[in-house]
Amino acid sequence: MLMNRAETLVVNSPPRRWLQRLYEAPLLARLGGRTAGVRAAEIGCGSGYGTKLILDTFGAASVDAVDLDPAMIERARRRLTAYGDQVRLAVGDATDLRSVFDAEDGTYDAVFDFGIVHHIPAWRDAVAEVARVLRPGGRFYFEEVTATALARPTYRALFDHPAKDRFTAGEFLAELPRHGLHIGEQWRTRIGADYLLGVAERN
Ligand SMILES: C[S@@+](CC[C@H](N)C(=O)[O-])C[C@H]1O[C@@H](n2cnc3c(N)ncnc32)[C@H](O)[C@@H]1O
Repeated sequence: MLMNRAETLVVNSPPRRWLQRLYEAPLLARLGGRTAGVRAAEIGCGSGYGTKLILDTFGAASVDAVDLDPAMIERARRRLTAYGDQVRLAVGDATDLRSVFDAEDGTYDAVFDFGIVHHIPAWRDAVAEVARVLRPGGRFYFEEVTATALARPTYRALFDHPAKDRFTAGEFLAELPRHGLHIGEQWRTRIGADYLLGVAERN
């Protein structure tokens, strides 16, 4: 499900970028380590700021980044020109990376999700797809907005999200091992249980 106008503004605003760069990425790196030299994918890359962090902060060698919204991919293309063939960008669905990047099972060392799985009505299919494309030992870095946050008046008034089958932090964490993703203690909730950040490892 695409972002509406209000969410597009908020997600691409300077405060959100500071939060992502100065807080979320360092916390994820503490939980799961950096990804120096690896082949990574990013689902729902939006305008490509997370892709830049995956390369610069996490140290990945390359990133295949996908988003459902052609306008976002165009923004990402402009932002990431300097990285050349370290970055592949494509319009497509995170639940089917085979169609988007020809991604076989076990293609990636790391997959990143900066706040996108809660936009997908069939979110369990997205988790299954992340698990499929990760190699054994590969890591899934996620930052998610839970049903608790989406039920708050500000979220309901301003943003559009799938109305059914939203996940709480506990439901998201419980889904991971069903797809061979081990989570252990490598997760944190923030602002009560509104936000969930963590790193799971593919069995
Ligand atoms: C809240 S935004 C986050 C964007 C980006 N990760 C960031 O942090 O700036 C969610 C993004 O997910 C994308 N999206 C929604 N459903 C998707 C799907 N099924 N496959 C790929 N991208 C999707 C939207 O177009 C949007 O760019």
